[in-house]
Amino acid sequence: MLKRIGIITSGGDSPGMNPAIRSVTRTAINLGIEVVGIQNGYQGIFDREFMPLGVIEVSGRIRDAGTILSTSRCLKFLEEHSQLEAIEILKKENIQALLILGGDGSLAGAAALSKHGFRVLGIPCSIDNDLSGTEMSIGVDSCLNTIVHLIDMIKATAASHNRCFVVEVMGRKQGYLALMSAIASGSQIAVIPEFRCDMDLIIENLTRRRLRRHNNSVVVVAEGACTGQNFMERLLVAGKDKLHQEVRLTVLGHLQRGSPPTFSDRFLATRMGEFAVLALNQGEHGSMVGLLRNRMNLTDLQEIKGHRPHLPADAIRLARNLGMEVGIPTEA
Ligand code: ADP
Ligand code: F6P
Repeated sequence: MLKRIGIITSGGDSPGMNPAIRSVTRTAINLGIEVVGIQNGYQGIFDREFMPLGVIEVSGRIRDAGTILSTSRCLKFLEEHSQLEAIEILKKENIQALLILGGDGSLAGAAALSKHGFRVLGIPCSIDNDLSGTEMSIGVDSCLNTIVHLIDMIKATAASHNRCFVVEVMGRKQGYLALMSAIASGSQIAVIPEFRCDMDLIIENLTRRRLRRHNNSVVVVAEGACTGQNFMERLLVAGKDKLHQEVRLTVLGHLQRGSPPTFSDRFLATRMGEFAVLALNQGEHGSMVGLLRNRMNLTDLQEIKGHRPHLPADAIRLARNLGMEVGIPTEA
């Protein structure tokens, strides 16, 4: 019988963490389970930053980006003896199981706790969409909406000034955000870490566009491929005497993580939070909740560790058919 569970947010914050905390709290209370919020990621366990969560604490939080529990990157937690120490602290607090909300690093931490025999369930929260076991992580949709909105605004000034804009987006080692936002914003080029970018093809694409009297263009660069600055410098060298266009750089940075969660993220977070508590209560642990073919699903945390999902093949085809330049697969 579950009586008391903990919940923690770890790694980079993502819009939708708060709706997930709310859903977990409300579902648990409904089942008569007490919820303890652990603040500041894994560090909060060592610092004993525990706060009881009830309906009042989560009230109104469905609208807010970020995480009411705060988050951190806790290097200490990479060490096995610290993980064992954390389990002892959790047991002393009578916390029987832990729900861990975060990206691939945080869920690797969850896998470690599970390996040491502590009951955990993961909920994928990361703008990067770099977790296998789910087609969508919480925060991705809000982040993409923000990127597309910002690129729309950049396009207005790009068109007015006859400029090419290089826009650097987040995503760690994954090109998902760059590819998807480039498609949805009608950008011309996506530079992603999964594919080798061919500068000649990029210049050809931009030139073709200029000759069709389109006087502006946007190149979306995934931070995992290279910095926007680095890409711009290479473009300027290779495109000298060919581009005939001023090139400017915008790094979107942390704006990408700050929007209120969209409907899709609120709904996904609410579904995942509820499903996670129901699963824990039925004795499930050592796995991560995921969304596969629009159904809630559980995947073993040990399977998720170290596996990055492939970019959706149909998105690559779609981009190419729309005339976008996305590069050549690196394994080709
Ligand atoms: P994210 O969860 O957003 O991917 P990080 O990769 O920075 O963010 O990981 C967040 C935290 O998760 C780390 O600071 C650390 O506390 C923990 N963590 C990451 N990788 C591991 C690992 N292999 N084993 C144990 N804990 C880990
Ligand atoms: O993992 C989420 C993420 O936003 C990445 O896309 C980005 O590389 C990183 O976190 C930025 O981390 P920080 O906020 O610590 O600079």
